[in-house]
Amino acid sequence: MDAEILVRHAQEVLRHNLVIGEGFTYTCPSRDTYQHQWLWDSCFHAIVWAHFDPKIAQQELITLVQKQFPNGLIPHMNYWRPATGFKPRVGDFLYKGTWPEKDRSRITQPPLLAQAVQAVYQKTHDNAFLAQLLPAMERYYDWLHAERSEQVSGDGLVAILHPWESGMDLLPIWDYVHHIRRLFALRAGAWLGAIIKDYNKAGWDINHIKTIQGPTRFLVHDVSFNSIYILNLQVLADLCSAAGDESRADIYRQRAAMARQSLEQKCWDEKAGFFYSRDAITGELFPEVTISGLFPLILDMDKTKAERLLREHVLNENEFWLPFPLPCVAKSSPHFNPRGSAMVLWRGPIWLCTAWYIVRGLLHNGHGDIASKITGKLAEMIQKAGFREQYNPLTGQGYGAKNFGWSTLIADLLLDEKLKV
Ligand code: GLC
Repeated sequence: MDAEILVRHAQEVLRHNLVIGEGFTYTCPSRDTYQHQWLWDSCFHAIVWAHFDPKIAQQELITLVQKQFPNGLIPHMNYWRPATGFKPRVGDFLYKGTWPEKDRSRITQPPLLAQAVQAVYQKTHDNAFLAQLLPAMERYYDWLHAERSEQVSGDGLVAILHPWESGMDLLPIWDYVHHIRRLFALRAGAWLGAIIKDYNKAGWDINHIKTIQGPTRFLVHDVSFNSIYILNLQVLADLCSAAGDESRADIYRQRAAMARQSLEQKCWDEKAGFFYSRDAITGELFPEVTISGLFPLILDMDKTKAERLLREHVLNENEFWLPFPLPCVAKSSPHFNPRGSAMVLWRGPIWLCTAWYIVRGLLHNGHGDIASKITGKLAEMIQKAGFREQYNPLTGQGYGAKNFGWSTLIADLLLDEKLKV
């Protein structure tokens, strides 16, 4: 495997997906399928751009925060220009009209903005850029704290209010909210739309949303979203310190500590040795073994728990240690489907962004050898199948969108000295 060639291809994919217009510069996930700007995709793109062209990474993030709501919410999608081509237009037809605003969505996505800003800052040490982004970041994480934690459970954990906020649209975890055994594509699509309709009726007021009866009341403490939130509070604290604001830094460190403690207390299942997402109101745990439950590996948490995640799950050949490791759903799950599907996403294939997080988590826990092994397998898979949206963990076959943006995260791993493969 030639890492250099793969890294060069990654750069070409990002350049191919670059969209520049009046007042915006961003990288779309894929020109054939996803032409708009998505929050967590843009953060991943910026992390990879930081290696190749930090100026573009800066523009990507500046563009991202331009459509921030006055209350601090950063939308999961920004629509900068109309979609072209059949598939993207169908996507717009199905979902775009559901939001109250026509140029952005009303929900968010995993909050890794601070990590993306940090990746760029570490390369550039550009204090003006940091000063420009800090106010938007503070308002965003303060909004998450006030609206999604204080107004829901008050224990530091943040609730997501739509499956799309997790970034993992139809992970089997959500079936527990929907209360059906198997989520078929049409029913799933109808349910995702129905939630938004009911929230429109509730005026997007969290106190109203809490009172909705039935499966369109979706308030979940998702393990991956919370792990990303906690890590990013720590990163934000470091960025505040870098900007000389120790009192803000302290506030974010305290919030991170409280949320991490709640995550370990409320989402850990001692018998399963695993973290499960839960209903944010009733506290019911959703016992599905998915990649979301491995995310606490990115945090400074109790070592025995981290070791159990590694030995009993990551390295388990019946769960995540497959010919190509780290599928989004454990092989042992009745929902595991190794093939990609355009209609019911996140039911088994490998997605590079989640695998990237777990590799980073393993490195964080001192398991560089395992992290390198996984990186090597992922690189081999991408070299054969190209930069696709999803991959089959049994065969390495690629599925879904082509020239897919965040699959270039492989370059971030390959360029990391600690992960030399
Ligand atoms: C799919 C994914 C979501 C991603 C979007 C754009 O909807 O589930 O996480 O942000 O595509 O790539």
